[in-house]
Amino acid sequence: FSLKNHNTFGVNIYASYFAEVQSVEELLETLNYSKTQNLNVLFLGGGSNILFTKNFEGLVIQLNLKGISEEIIDENTVILSANAGENWHEFVQYCLSKNYGGLENLSLIPGNVGTSPMQNIGAYGTEIKDTFVSCKVLNLETLEIELLDNAQCKFGYRTSIFKVEEKGKYIILSVSFLLTREHHILKTEYGAIQTELKSLGISIPTIQDVSKAVINIRQSKLPDWRKLGNAGSFFKNPTILTEHYSTLQDKFPNIPGYPNQEGTKVPAGWLIENCGWKGKEIGNVASHEDQALVIINKTGTATGKEIFDFSTMIIESVREKFKIELEREVNII
Ligand code: EPU
Repeated sequence: FSLKNHNTFGVNIYASYFAEVQSVEELLETLNYSKTQNLNVLFLGGGSNILFTKNFEGLVIQLNLKGISEEIIDENTVILSANAGENWHEFVQYCLSKNYGGLENLSLIPGNVGTSPMQNIGAYGTEIKDTFVSCKVLNLETLEIELLDNAQCKFGYRTSIFKVEEKGKYIILSVSFLLTREHHILKTEYGAIQTELKSLGISIPTIQDVSKAVINIRQSKLPDWRKLGNAGSFFKNPTILTEHYSTLQDKFPNIPGYPNQEGTKVPAGWLIENCGWKGKEIGNVASHEDQALVIINKTGTATGKEIFDFSTMIIESVREKFKIELEREVNII
């Protein structure tokens, strides 16, 4: 079964078996089948943060549970719950159509609701942990359904328990968010949002305006995976020791840096661009000409291995020039 249409890189690799499940019952049935047949299992959401480097010998299960429900808490708050297979951007747009605020900065992020907590998706000054209440999960060891709250998920920058200590233990079935109904708290401090709102001629923005601004910014520098396969930022933005950052500043006075609790965060896109990779092509793969942090399947025929090797070359250049170790953000299979 070709997975080409099931990963946003558009890599053409094969899985021995593929199943799409639309309910918890179907999921349990499929898991039971995989056990009796002794098959390796891989769970797939929207395929937007994954790079397949070889064929998958086993069963790929695509979670396609749909449905959105809401619970009004009081005049200003509402809890929206969406099943794992809902498309993330469509869910955000649904919330905006009902004038529910909190997710507008996360407009146009590819992928599904069910995978959003894994890497605590974030953009333009917001992360899902800011509105996340809980998620319903299937514990694969006990086959019981559990509810994990915000603290239990241990969200961090592009991380959670689902990526680290509890990797492979749970399947996320649905996610709930606490959103505002009237007194929206807008997050517009991010420079690019301010610039975009100004150019749209908006001085008192609504949540819908913020979404529009984010969509415009993303469309202007992030390639559409339907046209140019990609998985968004390929690497995380590294945090380095502040002393290391000061030494680098002596040599590279323009190096951007944002202090945080652990040191100084440096944009990986800047490091990659300054190693000469922006827009550079090797074979079927390239670094995007408008955002060096995004690796693209330039010809549509790149293999996962080619993309992986390209990313290794970037890691090596950045290590050599800046003594910084870039970490891949995309899951490598
Ligand atoms: N930069 C360059 N050259 C480049 C790209 C970036 O010099 O080619 C520098 C610039 O100094 C720029 C800075 O990097 O000011 C930040 O760039 P940008 O605002 O594009 O954000 P980013 O740090 O590259 C992160 C997230 C994105 C998210 C944006 C906006 C990570 C790994 N990526 O990118 O998330 O959309 O901020 O908040 O944190 C994703 O995870 O897939 C993703 C797209």
